[in-house]
Amino acid sequence: MNILLFGAPGAGKGTQSEYLVKRLGFHQISTGDLFRAAIKNKTALGQKAQSYMDKGELVPDTVTVGMVDEVLAQLNGKNFILDGFPRNVAQAEALGKILKLRLLDIGKAIFLEVPSEALLSRLTGRRVCKSCGAVYHIASKPTRKPGVCDVCGGEVIQRNDDKEDVIATRLKTYAENTAPLKEYYKSKGKLVVVNGDRETEQVFSSIKSEIQL
Ligand code: AP5
Ligand code: MG
Ligand code: ZN
Repeated sequence: MNILLFGAPGAGKGTQSEYLVKRLGFHQISTGDLFRAAIKNKTALGQKAQSYMDKGELVPDTVTVGMVDEVLAQLNGKNFILDGFPRNVAQAEALGKILKLRLLDIGKAIFLEVPSEALLSRLTGRRVCKSCGAVYHIASKPTRKPGVCDVCGGEVIQRNDDKEDVIATRLKTYAENTAPLKEYYKSKGKLVVVNGDRETEQVFSSIKSEIQL
């Protein structure tokens, strides 16, 4: 089954995707990670995306949809998770079309529900590895050695958009554009709401039971 994981910034999409990849063999398609890789590699796509991301706004749909379609073209039948895409109803409609053309489908749209009070501390406390992308948190998931990635020894830094003023815009962008997807996928009979305000392992076991029904 292919799934879509959505929720507010900091809801745990990346964290849960990592479990799904490592333990159940899914392929993760994170539009945020793809844009960050493009920025790091100084590609034309990265240049386009950066100004939007630095402000906490959405990258234009045409750019984003085309990028996702390219990844879908290379999957060779592997089950995938969409993490952070779609992010508005127009992207959801476009996704429906490109999946249909590729004879693919989404089984469930899993919404990670986390109260807004919890999101700010998750985002301001998040740290990521510059080299391998591993995700940490200064309080709930610190690195063993300060500033050094447990996985690869790389430098652990704060994401550019995890500063408080940008976070505020991201949360607003989410509320206006992405939150309506709950109704959208409910009307398609695909919505599953998972309580994301628990230990990561507990959240994962709820997701797993939805997938393995
Ligand atoms: P993106 O990278 O997707 O950012 P986001 O949606 O804001 O989500 P995050 O990655 O911040 O949060 P997450 O849910 O993955 O949480 P995580 O698991 O890391 O997008 C960035 C930007 O790219 C956008 O602003 C936009 O500009 C652009 N973009 C991306 N996709 C786009 C699209 N489709 N269209 C247009 N533009 C697009 O967890 C967060 C922290 O909490 C971590 O420190 C983690 O350790 C901790 N944590 C996780 N789970 C728990 C738990 N259960 N308990 C306690 N702590 C936890
Ligand atoms: Mg993420
Ligand atoms: Zn690393």
